[in-house]
Amino acid sequence: MNVYDSDRMVDLLKPLGYSITEDPAEADMAILNTCHIREKAEQKVYSDLGRLRRHQTNRRNDGDDMVIGVGGCVGQAEGKEIIRQAPYVSMVFGPQTYHRLPEMIAQMNREKEKREGKRPKGLIDTDFPLESKFDSLPAPTSSASSVFLSVQEGCDKFCTFCVVPYTRGAEYSRPVSDILKEAEHLVSLGALEITLLGQNVNAYHGQPLYASSHGTKEWGLGRLVFELSQIKGLERIRYMTSHPRDMDDELINAHGEIPQLMPFLHLPVQSGSDSILEAMNRKHTAKDYLNIIEKLKIARPDIAFSSDFIVGFPGEKDTDQEATLTLIKEVGFAQAYSFKYSKRPGTPAGAMELQVDEEIKSKRLRELQDLLNEQQLSFNRSMVGTTQMVLLDRKGKHQGQMIGKTPYMQSVPVVASDDLFGKLVEVRLESAHENSLVGSLTDSAIIPYPMSELLERKDEV
Ligand code: 5AD
Ligand code: SF4
Repeated sequence: MNVYDSDRMVDLLKPLGYSITEDPAEADMAILNTCHIREKAEQKVYSDLGRLRRHQTNRRNDGDDMVIGVGGCVGQAEGKEIIRQAPYVSMVFGPQTYHRLPEMIAQMNREKEKREGKRPKGLIDTDFPLESKFDSLPAPTSSASSVFLSVQEGCDKFCTFCVVPYTRGAEYSRPVSDILKEAEHLVSLGALEITLLGQNVNAYHGQPLYASSHGTKEWGLGRLVFELSQIKGLERIRYMTSHPRDMDDELINAHGEIPQLMPFLHLPVQSGSDSILEAMNRKHTAKDYLNIIEKLKIARPDIAFSSDFIVGFPGEKDTDQEATLTLIKEVGFAQAYSFKYSKRPGTPAGAMELQVDEEIKSKRLRELQDLLNEQQLSFNRSMVGTTQMVLLDRKGKHQGQMIGKTPYMQSVPVVASDDLFGKLVEVRLESAHENSLVGSLTDSAIIPYPMSELLERKDEV
């Protein structure tokens, strides 16, 4: 979501005359869009700020300047503390106020003028405003072939380890019509794949656009995906991140009914132990999770899964770790992210007794990751010999090489001519590594008919 937010900041700043530079030494302004989810991410902000400060000093010595801003969840959580520790920062703002960046910059410039060019006092804007930032964001002016679209933000789940409900705020869903308009616009700019984003994306709910056989009840994510699947030219739809509690039947069935919905789902479970899940306030058991996985497999037999895991949550014992390993073996993940529990300020788990030793956390993480890596490699190997559609969306390291993604989010470098950049091509997969597969274009690499053209458009739309 930070990638999406950063792109929107670029859209906001373009009309003010800013453009992106890869070289911090020539930047008039640098904005760090920050993450507060684990302590490590937070520490990185202060070391990055130190680096930016050196560029700022060099530029000042040359008679130029560099405005430094801190946005995102560290900005939200730390506010004044950032200015105290790094007084060379001019603006601090949060994930719900970045649409006010043009105003903040204008205010800062006014202050600077008043103070005859001296650095203005740091501005802090970490409200949770009543207006939605989405109403103030300009329409994107360009799109990659694979693009993010925020449909939902914030979270009301309050897992006891997590800062998100405090930094991103309460759960909010964007109106259906705004989402469809943005998606159509992105497709008209060249997007073939849209990933719907939300901290709790499957908690999405919006007023229906029209009455249907379902009556006038609110539309959930499954229904939204169906509406999006009617956009001509949109070949792939994904969504993340989901919560097991909100995996309703409509969404599960959508996986079987909507071919553009990719057969790959990131569904965090965090732990396989019921007592830890309860202490985490996840409101689901290991069995609930396994039932959802079963239902999804019935709806879409070729579906593959990825997940998030936390090891070393307060009070976690060896038997809890065993339960997590058992769940992993039962599901068989194609990919996964696993983390050592990180104590976060203001969260209930941060104040829990029986915090687990770092050494034990490291040992458990290694054990978990060994198993998950093994599963990932064997999943990748099972694809060797198949042909898959690959969306070529990155230039490779070598001349003439491009990297794309399979439906299962696997990276595949292939030799391909430049005109295939941003296209969906057919690739025969030839060998597998843990983090990628190698393949080559088939003779009929480019699909003659986009998937969406093969589908009948519903007249009711
Ligand atoms: N410590 C470690 N991992 C965390 N996550 C969230 N909060 C913490 C924390 N305090 C992980 C969860 C979540 C992912 C985005 O980050 O696994 O799903
Ligand atoms: Fe954090 Fe996700 Fe739990 Fe919300 S559902 S509190 S975002 S881990």
